[in-house]
Amino acid sequence: MKLKDKTIKVTHPAILVEDICFNWPNGSQVLRSCSLKVPKGEFWMLLGTNGSGKSTLLRLLAKLLSPQSGTIHFEGKIGFVFQNPDHQLVMPTVGADIAFGLVEERLSQLQIRHRVEDALSAVNLLELQRRPIYALSGGQKQRIAIAGAIARNCDILLLDEPTALLDPDSQLDLVTQVQSLVKKRGITALWVTHRLNELDYSDGAFLLDKGQVVDQGSPEFLKQRLIKDSF
Ligand SMILES: Nc1ncnc2c1ncn2[C@@H]1O[C@H](COP(=O)(O)OP(=O)(O)O)[C@@H](O)[C@H]1O
Ligand SMILES: [Mg+2]
Repeated sequence: MKLKDKTIKVTHPAILVEDICFNWPNGSQVLRSCSLKVPKGEFWMLLGTNGSGKSTLLRLLAKLLSPQSGTIHFEGKIGFVFQNPDHQLVMPTVGADIAFGLVEERLSQLQIRHRVEDALSAVNLLELQRRPIYALSGGQKQRIAIAGAIARNCDILLLDEPTALLDPDSQLDLVTQVQSLVKKRGITALWVTHRLNELDYSDGAFLLDKGQVVDQGSPEFLKQRLIKDSF
């Protein structure tokens, strides 16, 4: 029997996905009538086994891929944080990397400086502004990637297993940092993970199975559901 968590009611979604289907060109079907809503200003997580379609769903949300059918709506600008920050940070120093993300906005030098400093302060790394990227830890790199999205005034953060390459301390730092950014700055975040201990920091979570959201609800509800499944 499928359980439903009735304690969570979504009133104002920042992300609304309705009935999307996605197949790769080789015909393999990844997302099958997949639907979800992420409430504005909340921190939600997306769980599911390897190959269930989590990364594909995030790429569809970021418009890096297009669905064959279904609709995706979101409010505001999206920032993406990859599992491996080395795929994302392109400039030699922290400050230059964040400023590089602002090129299209044609800001003055002073405006760029303010945006970079504000974004670095938001992730508590202002003192690393002149540090070379190669000298950062994995957790610091992920926070710089997040600062890049904040500097661009992103309203929605999509994070694809951002802690997969981190040690347990940096993992905890990152998840609490995102939780606090969501609360302080009104950002909406969708975080992919397979680590159940991270669920505790979320406002709610979705469980993806074979390309469909098969359950969703509070962290406690999802944890119980997953623990039950493993027996
Ligand atoms: N570029 C690609 N071409 C074809 N199949 C792919 C490609 N990328 C991923 N897949 C397949 O799509 C399915 C879903 O992958 P993915 O979204 O990465 O899952 P998850 O992130 O949940 O582990 C998997 O079966 C994977 O092998
Ligand atoms: Mg993935």
